[in-house]
Amino acid sequence: MNKLIILAGISFAILGCGNSESVNDTELEKLIHSNNLTGDVLKGKVIPKITDTKAQLGMNLFFSKSLGADRDSACVTCHHPMLGGGDNLSLPIGTGAKNPNLLGVGRMHDVTSTHYDGGPTVPRNAPTTFNMLGCKHALFHDGRIEHVVNPNGISTPDSGYTIIDPLATDNLASAQSRFPITSPEEMKGFNHQDKDNQAVRDYVASRVGGYGEGKGELNNTNYWLKQFRTALNQPTGTAEKLITEQNIAMLIGEYENSQAFTNNPWKEYVNGNKSAISEEAKRGALLFFKPIVDGGADCVHCHSGDLFSDEEFHNVAMPQIGRGKGDGDEGIEDFGRFRVTGEESDKYKFRTPSLLNVEVTGPWGHDGAYTSLEAMVKHMSNPKEAIKNYDKKQLTQVGIQNVDKMTVNTNKAIKQLEKDRVAKLDVLEDSNLSASEIEDVVSFLRTLTDSCVVDETCLQKWIPKRDLDPNGDQLDAVDKKGNILGLK
Ligand code: HEC
Ligand code: HEC
Repeated sequence: MNKLIILAGISFAILGCGNSESVNDTELEKLIHSNNLTGDVLKGKVIPKITDTKAQLGMNLFFSKSLGADRDSACVTCHHPMLGGGDNLSLPIGTGAKNPNLLGVGRMHDVTSTHYDGGPTVPRNAPTTFNMLGCKHALFHDGRIEHVVNPNGISTPDSGYTIIDPLATDNLASAQSRFPITSPEEMKGFNHQDKDNQAVRDYVASRVGGYGEGKGELNNTNYWLKQFRTALNQPTGTAEKLITEQNIAMLIGEYENSQAFTNNPWKEYVNGNKSAISEEAKRGALLFFKPIVDGGADCVHCHSGDLFSDEEFHNVAMPQIGRGKGDGDEGIEDFGRFRVTGEESDKYKFRTPSLLNVEVTGPWGHDGAYTSLEAMVKHMSNPKEAIKNYDKKQLTQVGIQNVDKMTVNTNKAIKQLEKDRVAKLDVLEDSNLSASEIEDVVSFLRTLTDSCVVDETCLQKWIPKRDLDPNGDQLDAVDKKGNILGLK
């Protein structure tokens, strides 16, 4: 090991820093090859164009509070393009916000609102909506929207694990979009408790369409009908026919799937431009891809392929904070994948997230317990040490619940991880990266950022012009200083 480093050092000195092809490049090239990387998970995919009328209407729906039963929460509440396709919060606040249009830091739950406790209302971090076309297998941190094979279909919480949901549509993004609408804390609110999942979907669709149960609740339904007729190319179609929950799901999926952001320096590098990323990032990449026995951190073990995810479920003992999903003795834990499969061995497992654009998708982890990439990577290099030294001060969001119980609750996952290691199961191993190695890995992770996702002008296409909806339901987002999110 040491000999290798000295040898590498000597050859590096001989080759000289000015050379465009470094030792790191040669080694990385082999790893890129052996991992079958192309640099672009969306290569060969049919990506909907954001300028297409379907994606445009999907965007307007995504930004509309009319899909929240109480008309105070939209998809964009927790998934704004300017906030990395998330909400910049450890844990989201959906319905019952003090100011529904204020997104990100400073968003608060209204004191008079149902289940107010001073903190965030949703128990898991909002993942990014970017690059979902790259996911083949499952969505949600526990994968409860999942492709099923033979026969092909998608299982959802409506149908149950491994059972195909006949209403799930044909792609993961659309299938997923039918669920936030059914969650009281996310979009449904608390004034329509009598309605089951399907009833609330049909209700919001009928309201947008101005027919049936929701008739007359919006003043100007022609705003929507006109767009549905254009997007679905049915100039004389009726609202009942066109404005259905199934079409709404399809259209939102088109919008989300148009969020293809894979043009990053790493892709350029994989395609031969050796100066596309820094030497520091190259060292980080080597650590990322190399096995632990060779001095690497073996991140690729789980963050594999061009998606940087195996789309499988692992226990990496993320710090447990927030309200939790009702699991454990006190009901403040989240058992992750176990909640879907009921398998004891799935306790504390969560889906490996993609690392594309990870720089802008924080806070990180399924409950946003880490607010810096450095801390997150440090955790992955030794979870037990990280939990012992967890810095609660990094949580800048007000009122996150059960932080005082974090150690006790997370140690259960640590214990499970240690048991699995003893049993020689295929689990996360400690790589014990040094501080400078962590910097290198973070530097590599930053090469996975598409320049568009940090460019307000570029992102304009994914944000509707302000004040389009005559019903006043469009969520035109502002930050806590009152600044508009996006230029328009
Ligand atoms: C109050 C915040 C909130 C709102 C509103 C919301 N989401 Fe989410 N979204 C989340 C959270 C939290 C998760 C993760 C939940 C989980 O894994 O259990 C999530 C997960 C997702 C995912 C899965 C991504 C992945 O990689 O697994 C997609 C896609 C998504 N939401 C799209 C939408 C759409 C479309 C809407 C509107 C119909 C919407 N969201 C409304 C918070 C929200
Ligand atoms: C055993 C599989 C496994 C290995 C090995 C692994 N990860 Fe992860 N990683 C995961 C899982 C699972 C999560 C999500 C955990 C959660 O949310 O509870 C995750 C989360 C992350 C996140 C947060 C992403 C987000 O969007 O929240 C980052 C960053 C990350 N890993 C980087 C790394 C790095 C760097 C390494 C190597 C040092 C590594 N991981 C090794 C499985 C793994």
